[in-house]
Amino acid sequence: MCSSMDVDEDILREIDREIQEIKNRIGIDRKTLNEVFDRPTLLAFGKLISDRIIDYVDFPISTGKEANVFRAVTPRGKIIAVKVYRIATSNFKRMIYYIQGDPRFSTVEKSKREIIHQWVRKEYKNLEILKDLNIPAPRPVRAWKNILVMSYIGDEVSPAPLLKSVKLSKPEKIYKEVLGYIERMFVEGDLIHSDLSEYNILYFDDIPYLIDLAQGVISEHPMAMEFLARDIRNIVNYFKRYGIEEDAEKIFNKIIKNR
Ligand SMILES: Nc1ncnc2c1ncn2[C@@H]1O[C@H](COP(=O)(O)OP(=O)(O)OP(=O)(O)O)[C@@H](O)[C@H]1O
Ligand SMILES: [Mg+2]
Repeated sequence: MCSSMDVDEDILREIDREIQEIKNRIGIDRKTLNEVFDRPTLLAFGKLISDRIIDYVDFPISTGKEANVFRAVTPRGKIIAVKVYRIATSNFKRMIYYIQGDPRFSTVEKSKREIIHQWVRKEYKNLEILKDLNIPAPRPVRAWKNILVMSYIGDEVSPAPLLKSVKLSKPEKIYKEVLGYIERMFVEGDLIHSDLSEYNILYFDDIPYLIDLAQGVISEHPMAMEFLARDIRNIVNYFKRYGIEEDAEKIFNKIIKNR
């Protein structure tokens, strides 16, 4: 006969075994594993594995202030990108600031963990808008808890470089493309990236891809116009190094008028 105590221990042992199995599919060093994958994150990963979104994690692509990005592989052998927000180092005040006033989300209730989940869903929804507009960006695959799964930009050997790290042969063309993305995002998608710069654009096969969309806001946000002006300014300033001299304010006014 077994007591309820034994049953609980059985369940715990089973969960531990599951967690160990999940860990075995994450091919990264123990230190990163422990820093990024706390228990809830491991269990969230387990769900993505059992839903056949991910088969295993290859290696880290980037360690940012709040999130780690990994290269992963699907059960069909396709490479994908997985962005994991770390609960411990996330800036909740900043997140709430960008979520506030967005009718797609509410800021009432909400633990820190729930705010991060919302943040991930916001990044996912913003990527969906870019997909609908056919603007080059990672295509969203799944948002689950603090994990965003999206298509991978790059080749077998390495992920695409940031715009800031490449020497463009046709800067004028790329400049116009990026400004075109900003305009169409705003005019047709009601969306403003809000952290756009050469650090959040990947360059692959002669095409600029917008990334890092969690802080993207829709035009109802009280700071939307300031964010739009800043995005435009960042891009205009960056392309000065290629001898492209344009007036950011004029471009802003033109984009606003087109809406
Ligand atoms: N879909 C992707 N395919 C290939 N590489 C990616 C992809 N998404 C992100 N990366 C790489 O990971 C890096 C970090 O991604 P991202 O900018 O989204 O997060 P972050 O800046 O670290 O986020 P945070 O602001 O939370 O710190 C990028 O600079 C890029 O090199
Ligand atoms: Mg970034």
